Amino acid sequence: MRVFALVSLVTVFAICGAAALILRSPIPISGWIASPGASFELAMGENPEPVKLTIPAPKPLSAMALLGKQIFYDTSLSSSGKVACATCHNPNNSYGPSGDLPVVYGGPHVTSPGVRAVPSLMYLQNQPNFYIGVDPGGDNDAPPVALPQLAAAARTAARITKTAQDTAQSAANVVPKGGLFWDGRANTLQIQSMGPLLSPFEMDGGSVARVAAKLQAAPYAATFTQMFGPDIFAQQGLLVDEAMFAVVRYQIEDPSFHPYSSKYDAWLQGHAKLTRAEMRGYVIFNDPAKGDCGACHLDQPAADGTPPIFTDHEFEALGLPRNDKLTINDNPAYYDLGLCGPYRTDLSSQGQLCGMFLTPTLRNAAERRVFFHNGVYHNLQEVVDFYDFSVAQPQKVYPRGADGRVMLFNDLPKKYWGNIDRTDPPFDRQIGDKPVLNDGEEEDLIAFLKTLDDGYGTPDAKPAS
Ligand code: HEC
Ligand code: HEC
Repeated sequence: MRVFALVSLVTVFAICGAAALILRSPIPISGWIASPGASFELAMGENPEPVKLTIPAPKPLSAMALLGKQIFYDTSLSSSGKVACATCHNPNNSYGPSGDLPVVYGGPHVTSPGVRAVPSLMYLQNQPNFYIGVDPGGDNDAPPVALPQLAAAARTAARITKTAQDTAQSAANVVPKGGLFWDGRANTLQIQSMGPLLSPFEMDGGSVARVAAKLQAAPYAATFTQMFGPDIFAQQGLLVDEAMFAVVRYQIEDPSFHPYSSKYDAWLQGHAKLTRAEMRGYVIFNDPAKGDCGACHLDQPAADGTPPIFTDHEFEALGLPRNDKLTINDNPAYYDLGLCGPYRTDLSSQGQLCGMFLTPTLRNAAERRVFFHNGVYHNLQEVVDFYDFSVAQPQKVYPRGADGRVMLFNDLPKKYWGNIDRTDPPFDRQIGDKPVLNDGEEEDLIAFLKTLDDGYGTPDAKPAS
């Protein structure tokens, strides 16, 4: 079992003294550790239990996906004529933003600031639909229960403490899960695409009719007639739907959105060695007494060899500091409450969900210059400092108010503070406790996070725009 292998890995490090790890409870040692040479393999940075990952072989793109590719890069669909999907989701930046602005500008003059950080579009191909409670599964004939009811029912259920060493727990949790956008408000990539296309501070497409007219005038217009028949331009709604479906096929089919070509993937398969720092970082990532990152950013392949994508797709309120650089935050009464609004409205009555956002993948995170839904941080050092200090030494994370007091959790109204995760490590500390990581351990953790960048061994692996 992968989980046990990992547990053992942590243990070996403790036993070997390779890192000064203090484990809270004794953990059973499984078979391979006892085998001669196991600690030698670890010291050499090899994966003692290599696995075969199932990574789909690249296939030529379908006609639909090729059409979608043209649309993805087409700036003419925006009101400014300057913004395409690729402007914000830049292929040279792992389909995330290219700069370090907390939000990207769009709208008619490309001067309207967005309200949230641009997420990467990578590894979304199997994103589960949004749901609350136990996975409904595929073939349930029962009438669907409304989300607010599910949320209310889940309210009384005991929440499970998530640790990297028991990720099965995380799967059984009743917290909301899945969907797209930071608040999970869209279920399919296709519904999702309509958002930015029409949003006044993104592509500002105006209306379906305006976008349809632009598609008809686009250099690839003939492809629509070839694929959908001569009447397609008479049916504007259908035309725009098909265009967005094509963009989705592009994201699903093109391997550049999910190459699984990181050093960590190579290491999992026994094709690469981690450096000592990366190995120590990997252990910290999984140690509940240290980072415990793997509890939410799952790092183990599935039994069928599906590579890990470093998220459990669950929502959490981390209590991040407010980002004063966001124009929208000039209004002190404005709060981005994630699951309970303002950009999704169906759960606004469920106060227990306020402040929760979707856990993103960590693949290629080291390439990003904006982190978290509000873009408050700009490098991994700041991110790791947040996880290390937000509870133990909050004065390092939150600003001080006029009265000199540290303004804890200042991006969430006080009545929702109970939603902030104070049970899962590393947040299960008390103010004044020693931070979980020292400087060297933070560096090691960052070294490990960098092994999640795609393009290992191929310096030119990033696609050209
Ligand atoms: C002006 C910048 C901008 C443009 C242009 C843009 N997006 Fe986005 N995109 C964003 C932002 C910001 C978010 C996050 C919004 C949120 O969570 O509310 C996002 C989210 C997404 C997501 C969800 C990702 C996730 O992790 O949940 C997808 C998919 C996506 N965009 C696809 C597209 C497509 C396809 C286009 C072109 C039709 C496009 N975007 C154009 C800024 C942009
Ligand atoms: C309890 C679950 C949980 C744990 C444990 C956790 N994270 Fe996260 N992580 C999240 C959630 C949720 C977000 C998004 C929060 C938001 O934007 O409001 C996030 C966001 C991030 C991001 C930003 C990615 C991006 O695209 O903006 C990074 C980097 C990150 N986490 C790294 C880590 C590291 C390193 C650790 C261990 C020290 C860790 N996380 C532990 C849930 C968790």
